[in-house]
Amino acid sequence: MKHFISLVDLSAEEIWQVLNKAIALKEEWKAGGNKPILEGKVLAMVFQKPSLRTRVSFDVGMLHLGGHALYLSPNEIGLGGRESVPDVAHVLSGYVNGIMARTFSHDHMVQLAENAGVPVINGLSDFNHPCQAMGDFLTIIEHKGSFDGLKLTYVGDGNNVARSLMFVAAKLGVDFTVAAPAGYQIEEKYVATAQKFAAETGATLRFLEDPLQAVSGADVIYTDVWTSMGQEAETQKRLQVFPPYQINDALVSRAKPDVIVMHCLPAHRGEEITDAVADGPHSALFPQAENRLHAQKGILALLMAA
Ligand code: CP
Ligand code: NVA
Repeated sequence: MKHFISLVDLSAEEIWQVLNKAIALKEEWKAGGNKPILEGKVLAMVFQKPSLRTRVSFDVGMLHLGGHALYLSPNEIGLGGRESVPDVAHVLSGYVNGIMARTFSHDHMVQLAENAGVPVINGLSDFNHPCQAMGDFLTIIEHKGSFDGLKLTYVGDGNNVARSLMFVAAKLGVDFTVAAPAGYQIEEKYVATAQKFAAETGATLRFLEDPLQAVSGADVIYTDVWTSMGQEAETQKRLQVFPPYQINDALVSRAKPDVIVMHCLPAHRGEEITDAVADGPHSALFPQAENRLHAQKGILALLMAA
């Protein structure tokens, strides 16, 4: 593994390597602290969009491992505007040991990786959110013990978060169902790629419109905002389309009695998820958010430790 920019590029073994490293570092941290395996190492964090979890968890993760993180806001760099993406990659590579980026365009992420002499980590692009998926599967394994026979159902927009979950599910052999309105399903070309992985692992991937049907028998229900960052002009249109896809008590009651509910956050409470569910007995939202830290420490350790 040289970079961590798309789960399409990772083998099941590499995904397990990240999860196992994350589990080990989390145990070590909870037992008293991590060894300074990134001592003297610096991570540049390039942000083109706002963030709470990604910014704080990468910063804190570097501190836990003995390194340092630098926050670079959209105002500083102007990726692809003030300065070309390859130039930014070359310049940063002379200063730091790793780059974590949150971009609008996934193409910019790829260009960063192609031109950087140091590892590049995707902290969210319009295509996917691979660090999120690692934290999510860590959370699922902690709550459910294993992925055997697991049914994961994503309800809502077929967006960057949904695509990442689909790729990991397909590669790890987890049954994955999406319930999304027509026009908001994951694009056919990405589904076709995931179906190839699923054919090798035996995962079943289903794409439905009916949320009630999709959550029936689910072990995990997952949702995300209806309007992602960068799509704000579509907010009103999406607010008309998505209400039947809200995660509320009625929908949760159709899943298994011990279902967990997940959301990458930030949540628009009252839209894609009710307060009753987000704060209720099935919610895994905050352990899930914490696990971003542990999952990303696994990624940082594998990419940046000597
Ligand atoms: N889930 C997530 O990536 O949150 P932030 O946008 O706050 O980083
Ligand atoms: N789909 C959301 C995820 C935010 C973490 C977005 O891209 O805005």
